[in-house]
Amino acid sequence: MRFALPASLLCLLACTATPLMAASGIRYLASQKTWVIDTDNTTYAVGVNERGELQELYWGAKLTRPEDLGTPHSSPGRASFDSSETNTNGEYPGWGGVFYAEPCLKLTRADGDRDLVLHYLDYKIDGTNLQLRAKDIHDNIVVTLLYRAYPQEDILRKFARIENGTRQVVTLESAQSGVWYLPRNENYRLTYASGAWATEDQLVQEPVHQGKVVLESRRGNTSHQLYPWFALDENGQATEETGRVWFGEIAWSGNWKLVVEETPAQQVRVVGGFNDFDFSYPLKPGESLETPAYYGGFTSEGFGGASSQLHQFEISEILPDHAHPKVRPVLYNSWEATEFNVNEAGQSVLAAKAAKIGIERFVMDDGWFGARNTDHAGLGDWVVNLKKFPHGLAGLIRTVNADGMDFGLWFEPEMVNPDSDLYRKHPDWVMNFPGRPRSEERNQLVLNMARDDVKEYVFHAVDTVLSENNIKFVKWDMNRHFSEPGWPDVPPAGQKEIWVKYVRNVYEIMDRLRQKHPGLEIESCSGGGGRVDLEVLRRTDEVWPSDNTEAFDRLRIQEGFTYFYTPKVMMAWVTDVPNMNGRSTPLKYRFLVAMQGALAVGSNLNKWSDQDFALATKMIAYYKTIRETVQLGRLYRLYSPRTGEFTANQYVSRDGKQAVAFAFLHSQQYLRPAPTVRLRGLGQDTIYRVTTIDDKLMHAQKTYSGSYLMNHGIDLRLTGDYDSTVVEFDAVN
Ligand code: DGJ
Repeated sequence: MRFALPASLLCLLACTATPLMAASGIRYLASQKTWVIDTDNTTYAVGVNERGELQELYWGAKLTRPEDLGTPHSSPGRASFDSSETNTNGEYPGWGGVFYAEPCLKLTRADGDRDLVLHYLDYKIDGTNLQLRAKDIHDNIVVTLLYRAYPQEDILRKFARIENGTRQVVTLESAQSGVWYLPRNENYRLTYASGAWATEDQLVQEPVHQGKVVLESRRGNTSHQLYPWFALDENGQATEETGRVWFGEIAWSGNWKLVVEETPAQQVRVVGGFNDFDFSYPLKPGESLETPAYYGGFTSEGFGGASSQLHQFEISEILPDHAHPKVRPVLYNSWEATEFNVNEAGQSVLAAKAAKIGIERFVMDDGWFGARNTDHAGLGDWVVNLKKFPHGLAGLIRTVNADGMDFGLWFEPEMVNPDSDLYRKHPDWVMNFPGRPRSEERNQLVLNMARDDVKEYVFHAVDTVLSENNIKFVKWDMNRHFSEPGWPDVPPAGQKEIWVKYVRNVYEIMDRLRQKHPGLEIESCSGGGGRVDLEVLRRTDEVWPSDNTEAFDRLRIQEGFTYFYTPKVMMAWVTDVPNMNGRSTPLKYRFLVAMQGALAVGSNLNKWSDQDFALATKMIAYYKTIRETVQLGRLYRLYSPRTGEFTANQYVSRDGKQAVAFAFLHSQQYLRPAPTVRLRGLGQDTIYRVTTIDDKLMHAQKTYSGSYLMNHGIDLRLTGDYDSTVVEFDAVN
């Protein structure tokens, strides 16, 4: 039996139960040699123990009196086999002394000395930033740990700067961003996402046991196979709405690594940073290296709470428009309609049809340049094919603009087909080991973007096309991972820097293009979702989660994606059926699936019927009335596509005045009703006008209270296969 407490009583209980919270910010408790980082709802504390090591003391729900943490003290060792150093929650342990857990830093000095023991040096607090410095006990190798608190989003960022202040070369062999420790508990459950091309973002859950689980990319970019995000909850008990969840994410578009480790002392810790596989980074005297940012957060509101924190954080702190978040335009993309067969006449016809259904941005995909008629030739030659576009791109762009849309263009800047003018001129520009095979994937090789001459060529090639044309948007693709990552032009000791320098140069090109072309927007695509992470999202406005555009498969991909990334950046195309996996779903179902993110259309409009156009026009017009709620609001995943025939997701606008719920039925057992959908996040006493686009709502009244909608819920008349609906709730009082 369920009891509903009156709102006034709930408020009273909440008010008496909530102790006075300390303000957010960073404090130094001098008598305890402890720094306390408070966000609105969390506390993180790190101190200096009796040996002089920095030690994490606490990470979790906000402490009203962090002084209770006491004076930092190392943990005892266990016999002669697990040292105190191994059992202590070192904040940034180097590999040295008696230490057996995953270290944050491992190095070799030119003279062969590999021992590194870091002791606290000094600190600096600047608003929501904290710097802690530690130095090797013997020589001048200094690590600065840089922290930033994001109080409202309850997120912390940490990373490290490693400086070689010695007189000899110091080669870094593992340079991690940091480590997060969880309260001691043997029964954590790890949640992460795995996948592959066309099946990205599949959620995985498993218990944590003593030992290590390694999540990583060794492929040169973020990868479709694993994602640089983890979540841990206690005893496997967290749900979508309840339970304590700790989560973290490495922000890096190259080789990254997360090591989830339970030590013999039952301590769970997650080290993350650059992947140390094939990693070697020599620092000459005076040189330094900064690691990627490592974000972490805590919530007591389950996985939904964790996702919501990340979504709001991405919107208000990470994305290029974070200062003034705006909604994404509805986009058309030519790829599935015309593939490489693009030309001015054909694209103009598609553009005219796209404009009529309400598309705001027309994007021409692959095939517009050089000898690019298939994927065998032309990559790297970023010169407009005048046979296909006799007026250059200007002719098509004029038409698109006259139709009231802005224009976007596809590039794959980091790649080259051996059958291209670029490769014929500069065969040495691809990554390679001299004399060894250069393996092709999709008939292409990877340019060595770590080389500054290659970086400049790529920047100027893209910049020239953007400067000569009215292009508002670049779809930045990358259709293979690294192989044979040789860099023969630099001395052998520095060749492995290619993994880091490549990524930094790609970031630099994106930054320079955006600077030179104010207002330019970029989509990160890597044959689907191969390059999505919090660092590329600083310079890209949206991402392509998957080349799999089949609507039912997409429900699971989108669900996984939203565990860590906001629906605002989740591009979702409506495409034709039967889709790549042979499945056919109704056009309305395809629209509603795509409307849960940033809606786009990728269909061949030349094949659409009048009814298709009419439905699309209606759906796009409707989407524009709810997209702010979908893209910038709070997502509640009500029914997961992983657990049954029925999927439902709800979005509530930031001001709480509008909510929309999407529902999808996969395949109905005859006469078996769809489950009641209980709404979330509404005002108990608020009255909502309830509307829908079809006749699937089984309620006659026009208005309902939030209390009814959240406790009783709505019933939907969904039947057969691939039925779907969307219901809207607008506050009227
Ligand atoms: C892979 C992308 O994911 C597709 O959307 C399309 O742009 C093709 N590349 C073009 O080659």
